[in-house]
Amino acid sequence: MQPRILFVCLGNICRSPLAEAALRARAVEAGIALTIDSAGTGDWHVGNPPDPRAQAEALRHGIDISSYRARQVREDDFRTFDFVYALDPQNLRDLQALAPRRPLARVGLLMDLVPGRAGTAVIDPYYGDEQAFAETWEDVNEAAARIVANFSRR
Ligand code: 4NP
Repeated sequence: MQPRILFVCLGNICRSPLAEAALRARAVEAGIALTIDSAGTGDWHVGNPPDPRAQAEALRHGIDISSYRARQVREDDFRTFDFVYALDPQNLRDLQALAPRRPLARVGLLMDLVPGRAGTAVIDPYYGDEQAFAETWEDVNEAAARIVANFSRR
């Protein structure tokens, strides 16, 4: 079965949809099959498409994420995914509080995959400007490249 990867941020409308989009694109480029999804620890935006600024950032990289819909992370996700990546340290703490005692999934911080960025957050662009979304893209795209490289080496 192909590896299943879930990205989790707070609202599932900015950072984790961009991580999902970046990994989908990198996986297609590399020719590897991955199951990819994203979710939020909060429920405020459930059912909503990504923030228009996140959609615009994805489009700048040729990726249409307008059909994505926000959902909240659920306990079942720790059984149906192999890897659950938190976009920032608070997301990670919230995930760990939600995880069953024996999760199938490995739960970790996304930027731990990027050399020199261990322990750090993907910048939260929600209260930022267009430049903040561009920085978010840089972070998630770098992490996505690491994920693809890890699976390509197996
Ligand atoms: P995200 O960004 O967690 O990257 O989707 C946010 C979305 C919504 C809020 C904060 C961050 N909010 O406060 O509603």
